[in-house]
Amino acid sequence: MLRFDGVSFHRGPEKVISDVSFEIRAGEFAALLGENGAGKSTLCRLSNGLLKPSSGRVTVCGDDTARTRTSVIARNAGFLFQNPDRQLCQNTVLGEIVFGLEHVVSDRAERERRAGEMLAAFSLDGGRDPFGMSRGERQQVALASILARKPRMLILDEPTTGLDYRECMTIMGVVSRLNAEGTTILMVSHDMEVTADFAERALVLSGGRLIADGPVRRIMRDVKTLDEASLLPAQIPALAVSLGGVFSDAFTVDDMTALVERANATRGEAAR
Ligand SMILES: Nc1ncnc2c1ncn2[C@@H]1O[C@H](COP(=O)(O)OP(=O)(O)O)[C@@H](O)[C@H]1O
Ligand SMILES: [Mg+2]
Repeated sequence: MLRFDGVSFHRGPEKVISDVSFEIRAGEFAALLGENGAGKSTLCRLSNGLLKPSSGRVTVCGDDTARTRTSVIARNAGFLFQNPDRQLCQNTVLGEIVFGLEHVVSDRAERERRAGEMLAAFSLDGGRDPFGMSRGERQQVALASILARKPRMLILDEPTTGLDYRECMTIMGVVSRLNAEGTTILMVSHDMEVTADFAERALVLSGGRLIADGPVRRIMRDVKTLDEASLLPAQIPALAVSLGGVFSDAFTVDDMTALVERANATRGEAAR
């Protein structure tokens, strides 16, 4: 779905992305991690053709972004900006979703059917003005208008920042359901709990370099990499690492509960 081959990107004299290579296959759920200024948003913009590499090559579904029109790339890769207001331009929620479909679906009835599906998925009122809604709701409107186009890959730049817990779970519920149905996900996040709960793979950026790429379960325990990227692991893997011993493999609350219960049972038997 997405491939970076030795990609660098300069902004004036500053090298914002340095020699990055990776490949994301259809159906994966990958998280892109890194501290502020690490280059995550720049890497997202390179992934959808809004920026072109200074050197190296980016391909989306086999199309070289340097030689493919952004509108063609956008059909394969839907992109949710870090700030949803950058992609909202209509007076009503329904208008916004239908607008996004105008160049993708020629049949008007089909556009309205798809828009209706999205309003239901996010429990949105189609008649409301997006600019009178909360940030979390506007984020959902922006996501709904992208998803109505049914992209094969979804690139999300910090989709849960600034949202309350319920809004965060609504967005992540929709995203993980899409992933289960085959949509490829690349999600920028600095929320390690959300990453641990939803992503399978993590790519770690530090100073524009890709310093790690592997299963989230492994990377959450990789203290050296996380330190280098100034990231803190999610709470359960952090606890697992500090407890060590039989607890060192715990990754979820359920894992940890089961291990504690087993340890208690063993102590109980020993006491008897
Ligand atoms: N529009 C811009 N003009 C100049 N420098 C920028 C711009 N956007 C980002 N940068 C710089 O590029 C680097 C990477 O930024 P960015 O990709 O936004 O990082 P992240 O999303 O990980 O916080 C930073 O050093 C940032 O200051
Ligand atoms: Mg960013």
